[in-house]
Amino acid sequence: MVPNVTSAPGTAAHGTTAPAEAVTPLMRGISVLRLLTEAGGTAAVSELERASGLARSTVDRITATLARMGYVRLDGRDAVLAPRLMELGNAYLAALRLPALLDAHADALADELDESVSLAVADRDGIRFIHQATRRRAMSLSFRIGDLLPAERTAPGPLFATEWDETDWARWRERRAADPEDHGFPAVPPRSAPYATPDVAPYATPDSVAKEIDDFESRVAAAADQGWALDDQLIEPGLVAVSMPVRQADGRIACVVNVVSHTSRHNADDLRQTLLPRLRTAVATMERKVREVCGAREVRGAHGAHGVHAVPDVGAARSTGLAAWTGASKQELGREFVESLARGLTVITAFGEGRAALTLTEVAEATGLARATARRALITLEHLGYVTAADRTFRLTPRVLALGFPPLSRTTLADIAAPHLRALSGLVHESASLAMLTGDDIQYTARAATTRIMSVNLTVGTRLPAYATALGRVMLADLAEPPLPIPEPEPLTPRTITDPGELRALLDRVRHQGYALVDGELEEGLLSIAVPVRERGGRVVAAVNVAQHSSRRTPEECVRDILPELRATANRIEADLHVAGRFRRVPNS
Ligand code: PHB
Repeated sequence: MVPNVTSAPGTAAHGTTAPAEAVTPLMRGISVLRLLTEAGGTAAVSELERASGLARSTVDRITATLARMGYVRLDGRDAVLAPRLMELGNAYLAALRLPALLDAHADALADELDESVSLAVADRDGIRFIHQATRRRAMSLSFRIGDLLPAERTAPGPLFATEWDETDWARWRERRAADPEDHGFPAVPPRSAPYATPDVAPYATPDSVAKEIDDFESRVAAAADQGWALDDQLIEPGLVAVSMPVRQADGRIACVVNVVSHTSRHNADDLRQTLLPRLRTAVATMERKVREVCGAREVRGAHGAHGVHAVPDVGAARSTGLAAWTGASKQELGREFVESLARGLTVITAFGEGRAALTLTEVAEATGLARATARRALITLEHLGYVTAADRTFRLTPRVLALGFPPLSRTTLADIAAPHLRALSGLVHESASLAMLTGDDIQYTARAATTRIMSVNLTVGTRLPAYATALGRVMLADLAEPPLPIPEPEPLTPRTITDPGELRALLDRVRHQGYALVDGELEEGLLSIAVPVRERGGRVVAAVNVAQHSSRRTPEECVRDILPELRATANRIEADLHVAGRFRRVPNS
């Protein structure tokens, strides 16, 4: 189900009307991305039409444009968010720098405590997660990178609110009055105790809201006093958290570190007594890191009414180049393509590491857009709250993470591979698979089968000996010391190569040529060709193959006809993996 636009995703940040220069297609495109995000990443196009209130033809043009940009996939009647969209959130996270500096420290703290640890930044009167080191537990919900929570129902909220001015407080009170049940926060469960009265539970009442305002104000005062804050089951029963700020050199809060637990393991009291001291030590290390790398420069992720400080970006890195669609002709892009939407979203990718604060000229240069076009896009993005402007420079806000990041940050390598394997299988009319190496075996993690009567019959989860498969050989070839079968195994067919010396020479050849071809060594008549899939750092993390009956092609035909398509598929999987894996480890399945 797609929520209605009552919570106004994609609409104005301040409830004001759009400025005359605002680009309507960009506003509509963003509203569709927000609806898809809040629906969990997938929605029927008809649902998007209903929830957005836009005409069907408009929704079709928007989804066609987003599909052409690689930001959504059209799958029958559904629109599905695609990993490539994460480049928008990545632009914000890279510009912020905090994830690059602190994620590993947060992960180490989670390991040390065996509890979940998260990093959050202020997003107006909410908090937004920029990192999650989650310990998977049955007992409670866990939040995703990009999820937004109301400040007053969290531990970091009172810490951020110590920096609020009158405007911030007024905005917070206004929001509490207008949305007492937190409909504007799709990631949190509906309100229940302690703020609801029993007879109308779970709905908030004027009295309960007034009490909460008092409570929050005293929690903020306590946070200012103590330097830490607690969440004692404010979000849901059982969920507890203790938080401390990481302060930049000027004393202001860059982000907040949270240790999240459950009352079955820690109550609020022993969170403070046992976990807080270790959180304190970790935060001291993080602060040293932030100050050492950033000095007096601004790193804070805060997005409030304070405006944003223009900090010269020393050693500004070059932008990663123009978006793929900008090179295509109008004819190639198709009649449905809405250029002003594509241009507007591309503006977000002009930002990045060393490019946190950009002038209009810099944005125009990085995107190849005319100044007037870039200016109108920036005005639109500012109006919607995705960009702030101060002293002639623009910055991204944490709200950029609301464009797809929460559902996409849970993407696995199997999810990434599946549509690409289906496309490949449809093209070559053979089955295509992705597998990982686990010890001496390979394991199938994603697969697209053909409907041929005589097709290769293997399912996800199947394990096979690595040395006798093409998939296994491309992965073994990447290892410094491939574990070869010792003692020499029984051959699986008369053709199976089992001699360790011969296998080693074979792996050298596979490494050199970049693919492996196995003909009848695993099973008589089975011909398989495989290529590696590499993560950002170049390490082989998986392999993809096409398997067929050897009566259909000779090995030479297989190399000539299948290998180029197989390589193109691996490249597409890698491109998605590199975007999805920039700020988090992508799990296999
Ligand atoms: C979380 O990271 O899941 C989290 C952090 C702070 C809270 C609640 C949950 O107050």
